[in-house]
Amino acid sequence: MTHVAAQNPARPQADSSKALYGGKGTRRITVRDIAAAKERGEKWPMLTAYDAMTASVFDQAGIPVLLVGDSAGNCHLGYESTVPVTLDEMIMLSSAVVRGTSRSLIVGDLPFGSYQEGPTQALRSATRLVKEAGVTAVKLEGGERSAHQIELLVQAGIPVMAHIGLTPQSVNAFGGYPVQGRGEEAAQQLRRDAKAVQDAGAFAVVLELVPAELAAEVTTALHVPTVGIGAGAGCDAQVLVWTDMAGMTDGRMPKFVRQYAALRESLGDAAKAFADDVVGGAYPAEEHSFH
Ligand code: KIV
Repeated sequence: MTHVAAQNPARPQADSSKALYGGKGTRRITVRDIAAAKERGEKWPMLTAYDAMTASVFDQAGIPVLLVGDSAGNCHLGYESTVPVTLDEMIMLSSAVVRGTSRSLIVGDLPFGSYQEGPTQALRSATRLVKEAGVTAVKLEGGERSAHQIELLVQAGIPVMAHIGLTPQSVNAFGGYPVQGRGEEAAQQLRRDAKAVQDAGAFAVVLELVPAELAAEVTTALHVPTVGIGAGAGCDAQVLVWTDMAGMTDGRMPKFVRQYAALRESLGDAAKAFADDVVGGAYPAEEHSFH
């Protein structure tokens, strides 16, 4: 006898063809799709990307949202932190990622110094990312302190992903990358920040390095999705820097990273094998030669 799964007729089954990850859609994901996923209770993945080729791999793997993060500073451009990254650099990287993708929603990061002066500067910078790079949305750091910027961008028709908790552009003020929201006062500030960015119109909020219990509480309280990084399993979405996720980054990994490949080792091995073949005369072989 064929087993038929019991269904509750009072609760319609979610339409899995609409899923952000694993669904059937081929058009570019929109912020409305993101809102619908929160209503369905669907969890989704986000990765960073900084170039067209890597972005096309993630797009074809079905990753629904790609962030051209200013983590490009450390992971792509060779800076010590995200602080030196410029708006022109973000536009160049973001436009490559847009060109390499057809389905993923592309979020471009506003770098340090491109929005802190106030809403007018934020609008000028975000407009450049949208018009020149073709991103669908922008991300900026800060809760209550960035609410006016978010409000003006949203009024102007630019979707905004907020970023609270550990905000890496403030590394010099934090004196490192400490977990945020620990203790009652800090937790209250995080709750206020989350509410402020939602009220300002952000379509999603990154929670970075926040205790899991607090992140889960904020996720339940908000009607927009939370995207966790070092914020536990209770968030609606999870993001990792792609070079961390794929084992490409050199050095010690933060506690929250799980590595799904060992690309750095594979690439180094490939480079050494190529070099050995060249030095030993094994490459190029006859089949690689023209006559
Ligand atoms: O720049 C970045 O990659 C980020 C993510 C870590 C959220 O802000």
